[in-house]
Amino acid sequence: MGKKIFSGVQPTGNLHLGNYLGAIKNFVKLNNEDQNQCVFCVVDLHAITVAQDPKKLKDNIYETVASFIASGIDPEKSIIFNQSKVSAHSETAWILSCVARMGWLNRMTQFKEKAGKDKEKASIGLYSYPVLMAADILLYDTTHVPVGDDQKQHLELCRDVAQKFNNDFNVDNFFKLPEPLIQKKFSRIMSLRDGTNKMSKSELSDLSRINLTDDKDQMINKIKKAKTDTLPLPPTSADLEKRPEAKNLMGIYSTLMDVDLDNTINKFSGKNFSEFKENLSQVLVDKIIPISSEIKKLLKDKNYLNQILDNGHQKADSIASKKLKKIQEIVGF
Ligand code: TYM
Repeated sequence: MGKKIFSGVQPTGNLHLGNYLGAIKNFVKLNNEDQNQCVFCVVDLHAITVAQDPKKLKDNIYETVASFIASGIDPEKSIIFNQSKVSAHSETAWILSCVARMGWLNRMTQFKEKAGKDKEKASIGLYSYPVLMAADILLYDTTHVPVGDDQKQHLELCRDVAQKFNNDFNVDNFFKLPEPLIQKKFSRIMSLRDGTNKMSKSELSDLSRINLTDDKDQMINKIKKAKTDTLPLPPTSADLEKRPEAKNLMGIYSTLMDVDLDNTINKFSGKNFSEFKENLSQVLVDKIIPISSEIKKLLKDKNYLNQILDNGHQKADSIASKKLKKIQEIVGF
């Protein structure tokens, strides 16, 4: 039997190489396996947990859909839709927020990171973000969730919520407990400016990330400026442990090339960074520029993108509203 796949991406602009290598590349692989039911959601409800410019949010929704398609997701095979259009997500999130415990949410590291020092001023939505994520996943009887390493804790919370709901209402196996699908290696792509911080949309410096919409010169320039150390490239992977920037760049190269890190190490051992960076830029340009050109092309055809979203909305709504109805019956509404 095929897998039931669900994953989401926030339409907050600047989809980057971390999103692509950590998540979207895997979406494409799963989309291409026969028998899987894949649902990929543009999670705009999650996006507004921090302030968004409404006009930009709309543009970013299109850009996220275009990035999915340009990366190789087939809208005929996968359901692609916008979260806010399927009201079952918000409704289920409320019910699940009465099941999830404060103590569980208090442990979420992403909230602590995003709320920063002034957590009194963070939105309640940012705090309950993982509960909405659980609703997303559980509405589709999802068996597998492809995500980057940073979402692992949220998936554990989703499983806890599902289990507690099943126990509290005595409905064994009503919510399926989903498995995370996290890349074994390089599931966390790091910033090009600091190899100890993850590559992220919100980091101030654009030089810290390769955006999927960057052009060739921008990519080459960012790799040229990427932080490194002064040593030549090492002969073994153990030697990379204390060299986060070298490890990240070699990991990016390996993941883009679909080869093992050891393979990359053998190829570049003893060489200096300038030679390695030239090779890395070339691979990036070869693999990512076709995607970025396709994104730009697709963004000119809003009718086509709207058609994909409308179609996806209908299919998603039909699955989610049936599950919500059962949830409502179980809780006694
Ligand atoms: P978002 O938009 O922040 O991230 C989208 C995906 O990209 C992955 N990712 C990374 N992977 C590797 N290295 C990085 N530097 C990096 N940065 C981001 C994320 O892990 C994610 O897989 N909360 C989710 C959105 C969501 C969701 C869901 C996911 C909402 N509902 C239900 C799965 C299932 C998020 O982080 O989005």
